[in-house]
Amino acid sequence: MLAYNIHHVAIAVENLDDAIAAFESQYNVTPISREIVEEQGVEEAMIAIGGSHVQLLEPLSPESPVGRFLSRNGEGMHHIAFAVRDIEGALEHLRSTGARLIDETPRIGGGGHKIAFVHPTELAGTLVELVEVGHG
Ligand code: CO
Repeated sequence: MLAYNIHHVAIAVENLDDAIAAFESQYNVTPISREIVEEQGVEEAMIAIGGSHVQLLEPLSPESPVGRFLSRNGEGMHHIAFAVRDIEGALEHLRSTGARLIDETPRIGGGGHKIAFVHPTELAGTLVELVEVGHG
């Protein structure tokens, strides 16, 4: 199996502090990390739930990909991230199926993980992120 876990589900939010406060009051969970990822134009917070995470994304500017997503769709689910052990191998496999990749080669995402995005047209309109997580 290429994807062995749901690494996180990402939600685009207008205000990270408000979204974190909502998670705290409704589900009694707090972020395990919070960081600015300049390359993706977001500030993100990771909330651990069971063996997986919810990733909250606030855009750094309206012109960033998440900023454009918010102005088109408003707040809501942005992508699902699958954990893979070998991201280059996963991309190679997806390429062999004809899947359209947003990232032909991995880049470094939050937490220093190698990540790559697959175009939403390939999976029922769902933006997929691959996250390389050693031997989970
Ligand atoms: Co993500």
